[in-house]
Amino acid sequence: MAEKRVLLIVGGGIAAYKSLELTRLLRKAGVAVRPILTQAGAEFVTPLSLGALAEQKVHAELFSLTDEQEMGHIELSRSVDLVVVAPATADLMAKAAGGLANDLASTTLLATDKPVLMAPAMNVRMWEHAATKRNLATLRADGVAFVGPDEGAMACGEYGPGRMAEPPVIFEAIMALLGKGASPLAGKRALVTAGPTAEAIDPVRMLTNRSSGKQGYAIAGALAALGAEVTLVSGPTALGVPVGVTRVDVESAREMLAACEAALPADVAVCVAAVADWRPADASGRKLKKGAGAPEPIVLVENPDILASLSKDARRPRLVVGFAAETNDLEAHAKAKLARKGCDWIVANDVSVAGTMGGDRNAVALVSASGIEQWERMAKDEVARRLADRIADQFA
Ligand code: CTP
Repeated sequence: MAEKRVLLIVGGGIAAYKSLELTRLLRKAGVAVRPILTQAGAEFVTPLSLGALAEQKVHAELFSLTDEQEMGHIELSRSVDLVVVAPATADLMAKAAGGLANDLASTTLLATDKPVLMAPAMNVRMWEHAATKRNLATLRADGVAFVGPDEGAMACGEYGPGRMAEPPVIFEAIMALLGKGASPLAGKRALVTAGPTAEAIDPVRMLTNRSSGKQGYAIAGALAALGAEVTLVSGPTALGVPVGVTRVDVESAREMLAACEAALPADVAVCVAAVADWRPADASGRKLKKGAGAPEPIVLVENPDILASLSKDARRPRLVVGFAAETNDLEAHAKAKLARKGCDWIVANDVSVAGTMGGDRNAVALVSASGIEQWERMAKDEVARRLADRIADQFA
């Protein structure tokens, strides 16, 4: 494989020192690193350290005559295979989400036509601020990939999510995006369902479930990172398509089932979608008018069970994994579901924990015929990576 090139934007945060280690790991693996150091970043690491480890000139200014003569900022943004922002500060994320271009880093992010990976790092309050959440959602919808942040003790003395992912983890994410990572699932086809389904009552009203789609999207991305060819059959969500994944958009449970069947054969299926169990028996083709008083009761009929159908399909994937959102008796319910649906594993999800629904973290247990394994509470991205690793083990 030809030498891969990464543009590394180092933002201004205490985690900037970790980007030196990241640079070293990349160079050791034969990846060329073109560094951009923001003005704030230079308060934490010196251009000399970064340049020495990268064995490249450090770019810092937007209006540098020499730099522009050697390689203009537009060319710089396109001369690489991947743009990495580490640490991605709240400020850099806000600039990128808003499309600002008032320094070299933000201009490069706006001008690039290459995939972008961000490793956020900031104080926990900043990470949890509504503005940062909005920016994160916007960037995800724009197709930016994220690694971390981790939860832990922070340099500012607080505790929580906001620590930049460790250099080896960012390195792995970079290698996967460059197509140079370990690819234990290369040649394997994966089918993932995610998001809610929407069942029409009439053209403007629907029955649906609460589901952000985050966990399913993260799993699709993690399987793709391990080399699988992934089809993500998704109900309506506000999320961007993960790197390397093919998404098929559907609305109703019946459409989801049809799209899943069309995606077979597959080696593994992971059903994460929050499928509506019922749908109105007769969806009206016209908007129901209010008239006088309450409408006629809506008669519901049962939707197909996609997980159960895939489990008993003639072309059944070798490994079928379901999810179970439970509020109580997690293990008993998950085991019953495993038997009822005929799948191989159930990832039991304790939604009684505040913040799980729609949040970024998840507490799950992996249930199979051989027992139950409780995983500690972790980021949904991390749950996805672990599950993808476990799936890869099955195909080793
Ligand atoms: N599922 C599916 N099709 C359905 C319903 C559920 O594929 N019509 C899948 C989900 O994607 C998930 C698993 O089945 O992987 C379990 O979903 P859950 O809602 O927890 O289970 P239910 O079948 O609805 O059972 P219960 O209402 O008893 O919890």
